[in-house]
Amino acid sequence: MTKLSLSKEKIKVVLLEGVHPDAEQMFRQDGYDNLHVLKSTPDDAELKVLLKDAHILGIRSRTQLKGDILDSCGKLMAVGTFCIGTNQVDLETCKKRGIPVFNAPFSNTRSVAELVMGEIILLLRGVPEKNAKAHRGEWFKSALNSNETRGKTLGIVGFGHIGSQLGILAEAMGMKVKYFDIENKLPLGNSEAIASLHDLLPQIDVLTLHVPSTELTKNMIGETELSLLPKGAYVINAARGDILDIEALAAHMESGHLNGAAVDVYPTEPASNSEPFESPLRQFDNVILTPHIGGSTQEAQVNIANEVADKLIKYSNNGSTSSAVNFPEVSLPSLHEDLTRVMHIHENKPGMLEKLNHAFSSQGINIAAMYLQTSGDVGFVIMDVQCESSDPIVAQLKDIEGTVRVRVLH
Ligand code: NAI
Repeated sequence: MTKLSLSKEKIKVVLLEGVHPDAEQMFRQDGYDNLHVLKSTPDDAELKVLLKDAHILGIRSRTQLKGDILDSCGKLMAVGTFCIGTNQVDLETCKKRGIPVFNAPFSNTRSVAELVMGEIILLLRGVPEKNAKAHRGEWFKSALNSNETRGKTLGIVGFGHIGSQLGILAEAMGMKVKYFDIENKLPLGNSEAIASLHDLLPQIDVLTLHVPSTELTKNMIGETELSLLPKGAYVINAARGDILDIEALAAHMESGHLNGAAVDVYPTEPASNSEPFESPLRQFDNVILTPHIGGSTQEAQVNIANEVADKLIKYSNNGSTSSAVNFPEVSLPSLHEDLTRVMHIHENKPGMLEKLNHAFSSQGINIAAMYLQTSGDVGFVIMDVQCESSDPIVAQLKDIEGTVRVRVLH
């Protein structure tokens, strides 16, 4: 259980793994001076020393915040993963200890959409094949199977952030856009929602996948689905490697049913750049193979830095937990200068609110505003109160059974 009523200069912010410099700049501009920024990923022993008294931690995908590393973070109040995934963090333990975790799930939407749009153009012109031949010294000047995008139909599976952004780009190129989504998604522009995946497939020239990896989407495009595509169609997967049956795709390339494909994600991917890449698709000239770089751009890195640093600063400054991945989400207004903001994170048990109210009324403290949100076994209550000193009420709140953490902002 921790009480925090720290000035910004005292809040220790640790940024590891070379997160984009914009993040550090944002903290500094907001008055945070106690910054420890490392380009590297420290080993466990170094980490424990560094994190012993850290309040805010920013990592990318390599630092594992689990087990005894997490146990060594006695003062940690918030974590930012400066990337998309959060698998490297024990989210449940963080939640139980009152530590919200923030990430940047949609900061590379545009990067993926642009790559896929480029691939559609290149595939329809047969550029991958012509390029591969030219590299081998062959001259393959031909208009056969070489088409404009204008007037062709793009089938998008998953009309979320990336799918819908791609739809807008494709329409600007003169393509017709049809999509299938499990949710009822409003069409954008002239795009058309199709009721089922199997209805969509025979109607399109290019299929592109933009669904998450779930039980429902595992191998959702296999032999049956590929057979439903018209002869000469193209397939693009820049979503997740387990959504598309890659052996079935290779078979449809081999038979000549498909004209080409572009794949960015694979059922198994090399763990590092020094490991070899194996795939049954390597043999086909008209298949674009990229090493999971759909979202890897400088712009996306900047977006991630801004988004995650902003969320951490907001939480530190006023308690807002909007879009935290493991925590009750509360969006709070700025704190009025006459008030004190008391934040109480607790085990979500019946009667907690009554005990909190009793604590304030017993000390004659007026509550000007109250916000409450729960998520599973954790509750988060924020009270803006009028009081001279917060110490007595903080002491009383800490004594309430089930209290995880009390923070005070002045
Ligand atoms: P999103 O959550 O905004 O959109 C996903 C859409 O898929 C939603 O509209 C959802 O309703 C729909 N959906 C979910 N299950 C479905 C099902 N069974 N059938 C049909 N539709 C279904 O996600 P976003 O940001 O558009 O990302 C899409 C995919 O792209 C994700 O798999 C993500 O991991 C991947 N991605 C890949 C990157 C890369 O580097 N190649 C970078 C960023 C994201």
